Amino acid sequence: MSFYISGTGSSLPKKKVTNDDLSKILDTSDEWITSRTGISERRVLSSETLLDIAAEAGRNAMENAGTSPADIDMILCATLSGDFVTPSMSCLLKDRLGLNAKYVYDVNMACSGFVFALEMASVYFDAGKVNRVLVVCAEAISRLLDWNDRSSAILFGDGAGAVVLEKGDGLKDLVVNTKADSAVLHISGVESNSPFSEGYAKVDKRVVMDGQGVFIFAVSAITDGLSTMIEKNGLTPDDISMYLLHQANTRIINSARKRFGQPEEKFPHNIEKYGNTSSASIPILLDEVNRSGKLKKNDKIILGAFGAGLSTGFCLIEWQK
Ligand code: COA
Repeated sequence: MSFYISGTGSSLPKKKVTNDDLSKILDTSDEWITSRTGISERRVLSSETLLDIAAEAGRNAMENAGTSPADIDMILCATLSGDFVTPSMSCLLKDRLGLNAKYVYDVNMACSGFVFALEMASVYFDAGKVNRVLVVCAEAISRLLDWNDRSSAILFGDGAGAVVLEKGDGLKDLVVNTKADSAVLHISGVESNSPFSEGYAKVDKRVVMDGQGVFIFAVSAITDGLSTMIEKNGLTPDDISMYLLHQANTRIINSARKRFGQPEEKFPHNIEKYGNTSSASIPILLDEVNRSGKLKKNDKIILGAFGAGLSTGFCLIEWQK
């Protein structure tokens, strides 16, 4: 007995940045970005803080679940880009949302953060320590980008997505994996100002990415992760009602869809509106799909994430609402 998803929520910054906006500050074009990535625009924090949108996503999820802040036993926040290094975003959220939560943790697993947070939550449910958990994934990658690097600046956006988990048996399987490899994708920490430091190098680039390297990793990681999850659970690709994949590139999503011979509506996407919002991308998409009434009770859904680490996470859930 673990959990089921009882509510979803999301929140996006109000500032839209289109590909045409970017082509005014970078040597790029709407045609290049759309054809290589599927992205048309993204949202970027301007006057809001990350906490503002994270809290709104969390509030929306609690409202959707019909749960009050007093009933939440644990809050997990997946982020790599919090407003502060410390206090953690989960601590700030506990305060802002007026939660009683006893267990409060941030999870930094980059774009796979949502699935890793679900894994952590499942352990607390299994241990009988919690009845209700709020998971908020909130990212402000715009703060970590090198805005002069056209190969990475065009890809990302800011946003927040959230779910409420309640005791139940909606979780059918969950697998996470990591392999230390910072060469293809990393973001450096801040330069040390210690007088004793002997070489924590000053870094002038923020998101450092070998685009093709990540692309190759992502295509095979998604295909392998999905087939393992499907076969291990005695299912076929047709048995899955919806595949909610990390929104990094429509070419990655489409290659998985074609590999499993599935129709477009089973691989929904919103990357065209929001770009890659890292850990927030799957819960934002889940919230859209949930609120549009496309999920039915007992639907089998696979969540599939990949990202820096390198990390991957796959989760099979049965929709119970
Ligand atoms: N506008 C115009 N040209 C661009 C550009 C941009 N925004 N970014 C790169 N280019 C150029 C390159 O400089 C290169 O030019 P060159 O051939 O003269 O050297 C050319 O376009 C092709 O670059 P390439 O890297 O081969 O393009 P690609 O087809 O692999 O697409 C990505 C690049 C980044 C879109 C693609 O590799 C990708 O999506 N990778 C995955 C990234 C990702 O998902 N990261 C997050 C993981 S969680």
